[in-house]
Amino acid sequence: MQRIVYASRNLMEGSEEEKLQGVQQILAAARRNNTAAGVTGALIFNSGGFAQVLEGSSHELAEIFERIQCDSRHTDVLVLDHCSISERIFPDWSMGFIGTNTGDELMFGAITQDSGFDVSRLAADEILAAMQRLVLEEENL
Ligand SMILES: Cc1cc2nc3c(=O)[nH]c(=O)nc-3n(C[C@H](O)[C@H](O)[C@H](O)COP(=O)(O)O)c2cc1C
Repeated sequence: MQRIVYASRNLMEGSEEEKLQGVQQILAAARRNNTAAGVTGALIFNSGGFAQVLEGSSHELAEIFERIQCDSRHTDVLVLDHCSISERIFPDWSMGFIGTNTGDELMFGAITQDSGFDVSRLAADEILAAMQRLVLEEENL
């Protein structure tokens, strides 16, 4: 199995509500496809960008990531980590979404304070740690 962590810049325009609707569409496709492919992970979104973790067998992962990279809803896809793994971090999440219950500042405050709110400047480790923490929090709600 492999894991990919990347950050990208959002290209979706419109009101906050319209952007969130766009994210919901991304999530719906992700959950459908990832479940079928045995891929798991989590997605963070703010108005500026995305950060995503994907984990699964290398063939399925490559196929899905290829599609994601071609998606015109974002750009500047920057791979922060791509490694072999023996265990998943998000075994129960076809695509966990961080941010439905918290505002932009709140959800990113913890992980972007040192990077000037630029997700692409975050290290993969920081993203993973923050995602794990936030996913646990959402599971407890
Ligand atoms: C930031 C971002 C993350 C995405 N994550 C996934 C994902 O995890 N899995 C997936 O299948 N598609 C994901 N997509 C959507 C794909 O780019 C593509 O639109 C989708 O896989 C097409 O699926 P469909 O042919 O079933 O409609 C993502 C798109 C963006 C912009």
